[in-house]
Amino acid sequence: MQLKDKVALVTGGTSGIGAATARRFAREGAWTYVLGRNAQNGEAVVQEILGFGGKARFVSCDVASEEDIERAFNAVIGKAGTVDVLFNCAGVAPSGTIEELCTDLWKKTFAINVESVYHFSRLAVPVMRKAGGGTIINVSSSAGTVGAWGMHLYAASKGAVVQLSRSMAADYARENIRVNCLCPGATLTPMMDQLGAEGMQEFAKMIPAGRMASPDEIANVALFLAGDQSSFMFGSTVLVDGGFTAI
Ligand SMILES: NC(=O)c1ccc[n+]([C@@H]2O[C@H](COP(=O)([O-])OP(=O)(O)OC[C@H]3O[C@@H](n4cnc5c(N)ncnc54)[C@H](OP(=O)(O)O)[C@@H]3O)[C@@H](O)[C@H]2O)c1
Repeated sequence: MQLKDKVALVTGGTSGIGAATARRFAREGAWTYVLGRNAQNGEAVVQEILGFGGKARFVSCDVASEEDIERAFNAVIGKAGTVDVLFNCAGVAPSGTIEELCTDLWKKTFAINVESVYHFSRLAVPVMRKAGGGTIINVSSSAGTVGAWGMHLYAASKGAVVQLSRSMAADYARENIRVNCLCPGATLTPMMDQLGAEGMQEFAKMIPAGRMASPDEIANVALFLAGDQSSFMFGSTVLVDGGFTAI
């Protein structure tokens, strides 16, 4: 078991990539805290984990709110006493060019996709320092490393996550706190529903692998980054995109 008795906090654990990662972490022995707004989905993920003998709890959290992040983080610390693995996965993917977007959506998206990474990390770092180390994995996107047609806000927010991860990694490496950035390409989750079946087929044609990822294929890499197998990885931007950005 790669995460035996570790405490993992997974934001966006109620759906898609976060839910798959919560299950993966729990299968490897982590006490897994599933965060999100949708309690029904969160409890379903927890029940699945308990069903295979894993350990998990749902904690409600709206990551658009700094106050709610602090409340949820403190709730996890109150139960678990520490956090060894922080998986910052909650995110939204609004489409639009700069002319189509509005300021409110810009601010809300940055609050969810970028500021939540900042808030959870600033809360986790002192806890990890006290424990002698830890791992932070921030979920960006292939769109954080190259531009994205018609998704100006999303690409800007995910680019910020890449740069924040690199900078945090440099400052905390000597304290055995490893920060890395996971950049999925198109992955079959509810987030992709906005494309519709035809749109998804068209998108898949642009990917060298010829298909989208399953959430489990992303979760496998999340596990690698969370555990000791990646012990010399600090500030890496790990693309898992079927070759989308390779060409
Ligand atoms: N799917 C892809 O193709 C793809 C590609 C690259 C990167 N990503 C990134 O991967 C991450 C997960 O996406 P996904 O594909 O798994 O999407 P998803 O299935 O739509 O899940 C999104 C998750 O984010 C959470 N979330 C959104 N707004 C929130 C808020 N205000 N407060 C708390 N939680 C919030 C949702 O939880 P609640 O609804 O319960 O609040 C949900 O668990 C995102 O950061 C996304 O940008 C996805």
